[in-house]
Amino acid sequence: MKDRLEALRVEALAQLQEVADAGRLNDLRVHYLGKKGQLTEILRGMGGLSAEERPVIGQVANDVRAAIEAVLADKQAAFDRAETARRLAAETIDVTLPGRSVATGSIHPLTKVTQEIEDIFLGMGYTIAEGPEVETDYFNFEALNLPKDHPARDMQDSFYITDEILLRTHTSPVQIRAMKNADGATPLKVICPGRVYRRDDDDATHSFMFHQIEGLVVGPDIRMSDLKGTLLQFVQAMYGPQVQIRLRPSFFPFTEPSAEVDVTCTQCGGQGCRMCKHSGWIEILGCGMVHPKVLEHGGFDPEQVSGFAFGMGVERIALLKYDIDDIRHFYNNDLRFLGQFARM
Ligand code: PHE
Repeated sequence: MKDRLEALRVEALAQLQEVADAGRLNDLRVHYLGKKGQLTEILRGMGGLSAEERPVIGQVANDVRAAIEAVLADKQAAFDRAETARRLAAETIDVTLPGRSVATGSIHPLTKVTQEIEDIFLGMGYTIAEGPEVETDYFNFEALNLPKDHPARDMQDSFYITDEILLRTHTSPVQIRAMKNADGATPLKVICPGRVYRRDDDDATHSFMFHQIEGLVVGPDIRMSDLKGTLLQFVQAMYGPQVQIRLRPSFFPFTEPSAEVDVTCTQCGGQGCRMCKHSGWIEILGCGMVHPKVLEHGGFDPEQVSGFAFGMGVERIALLKYDIDDIRHFYNNDLRFLGQFARM
């Protein structure tokens, strides 16, 4: 029995030396040391041994098992190391490679300026109102004291869809909608941002579609001085405390009196330059005291309340703020242009 055990040791160790993979190693483990393996098989004959022989053979059997187990463990460890090395090699990450940058978008300059203007007026207690871009003739003209055939309709060349429906030519129709919504309640303080459309030929300063922000205040004792103070506050918040305003008499059918507002030229600070045509002033908006007929169309009694309104072009405000020379930059969606406003 001892010889068989020794033979088993020699055979097993020889076989184990040649093992080349973990699968084969496990097969051999089962073959020699498993429940139905060679060693168990031999030990089954232990019962027939004498009491003196038994511990001797037992010792040899244990030695053989230990020897085989030791080689198995060595081999297993070697395979494990090789496997780890293989995976490390396969899963290597080169941490020195430059990362792939993620392209982040940025807010469009017109949106940015709109939000800035909204913030300034929200800070003065205004709320934001909106109206449809496809508007009725009534809201766009009629209710604003521009009856059909009124010559002032020519001031704003319109895109008509039917005789009664058009693309709004300004945000002033939202004045009427906001007044009707207020249902006679004062004070009413709203600004109305949005797109407007005019049949203009596109050039550096004109576009068939552009953006306006309308302002409207209606209350018991609203005066021209309130309008002027509000606008001064606004332009100084927008362009800086050094900026002044100037009101020039003008005409709009929906305001009386009406004015056009100039700001100190943002380019030369009022000294006179090419941008302000050497006047030192730049026109930024139209405004006036709400015409009594317009108040009536909005459901207010012009004997009881008064109001002021203004309307400005967002593109124009943005051109001045960012020193841009062509309005078309805003619409071409050239990322080289738009990207410049990411951190402004
Ligand atoms: N709606 C006028 C325009 O588009 C601007 C304006 C608004 C003037 C409100 C006076 C009052 O030119």
